[in-house]
Amino acid sequence: MRAVICKAYGPPETLTVEEVAAGPPGSGEVQIEVEACGVNFPDTLIIEGKYQIRPEPPFAPGGEIAGRIAAVGEGVEGLPVGLPVIAMTGYGGFAESVTVAAERVMPRPESMDGIVAAGFSMTYGTTIHALVQRAALQPGETLLVLGAGGGVGLAAVELGKRLGARVIAAAGSPEKLAAARAAGADETLDYRTEPLKERVKDLTGGRGVDVVYDPVGGTLFEQAVRATARNGRVLVVGFASGDIPRLPMNLPLLKECAIVGVFWGAFRAHEPEVNTANFQRLFDWHAAGQLAPRIERVLPLAEAPEALQALAERRVIGKIVLTTQAEG
Ligand SMILES: NC(=O)c1ccc[n+]([C@@H]2O[C@H](COP(=O)([O-])OP(=O)(O)OC[C@H]3O[C@@H](n4cnc5c(N)ncnc54)[C@H](OP(=O)(O)O)[C@@H]3O)[C@@H](O)[C@H]2O)c1
Repeated sequence: MRAVICKAYGPPETLTVEEVAAGPPGSGEVQIEVEACGVNFPDTLIIEGKYQIRPEPPFAPGGEIAGRIAAVGEGVEGLPVGLPVIAMTGYGGFAESVTVAAERVMPRPESMDGIVAAGFSMTYGTTIHALVQRAALQPGETLLVLGAGGGVGLAAVELGKRLGARVIAAAGSPEKLAAARAAGADETLDYRTEPLKERVKDLTGGRGVDVVYDPVGGTLFEQAVRATARNGRVLVVGFASGDIPRLPMNLPLLKECAIVGVFWGAFRAHEPEVNTANFQRLFDWHAAGQLAPRIERVLPLAEAPEALQALAERRVIGKIVLTTQAEG
């Protein structure tokens, strides 16, 4: 089978596509025939050795896939051969076949297309957990989403609306803001040209927002905290800017707001049944046409370097997905 291989930590252009042997599933594992792979920001870091997980090269990157069960290891139940699934692989997903622990795999509705499914779990799974379990977002509250044209950001706009919030989408280009509007945002602001705190205050009659969803970090974080209402919750989702912010702690004191960490991977491990219930809601909303995942480009596996480069250069609106079905 073909796989995108990182032979030594380095930039996307050092990745190669190679023919490698697919390992049979061991005890507690399944082998999946991969239809498509979602491309996520952590993939850009893992190939450079800059992510929290540092696999020993050579390895295939790729943290989420959609496919069908091809073989089942000893002791695995409920995942028969042929079942359509999604899986959070951590790495190894940019390949025609992947072998993973069964607990990383979830059945998906037969009606959900493989390309859509491949880009669905990381963004929507993280975001429903953030908004529901971590922020307890309530109907009628105001949600500010930073990086609102990116993968998790656009999902936050859509899910914020589904959950009944008024959504202010903040991003760094008119095209990304247009995508956020199309996903349901009530208000938009461009933080490359407009002062975040002042604009948010204007849009909320001086009150500030109830919940901030921040996958970007950097200097925007403190501005967002300053734009938070009393009893607000600031969700720390990621640091796509590359800068982990520091915060003067008098701000949460004075504003009586909470700084709330979000780590979907830990949540999945500790509360799998709640995660499964989250996905049931997500699949139901998707089947009812109430979620419209935006997949900007579908590229063959061999174009993984371009996909990762585009993400790192902020050129992607929504998601890029790699398909194993096209010629590389
Ligand atoms: N905590 C969790 O459990 C969890 C789960 C999933 C993802 N994450 C994290 O969430 C973050 C976003 O992931 P994603 O897959 O949604 O990424 P993405 O699609 O690339 O979106 C990230 C957004 O960040 C903004 N950005 C600002 N500075 C940037 C820079 N220097 N480079 C790249 N983007 C920059 C971009 O929007 P503008 O151009 O509009 O500024 C971009 O759209 C990552 O840090 C990821 O690790 C965390």
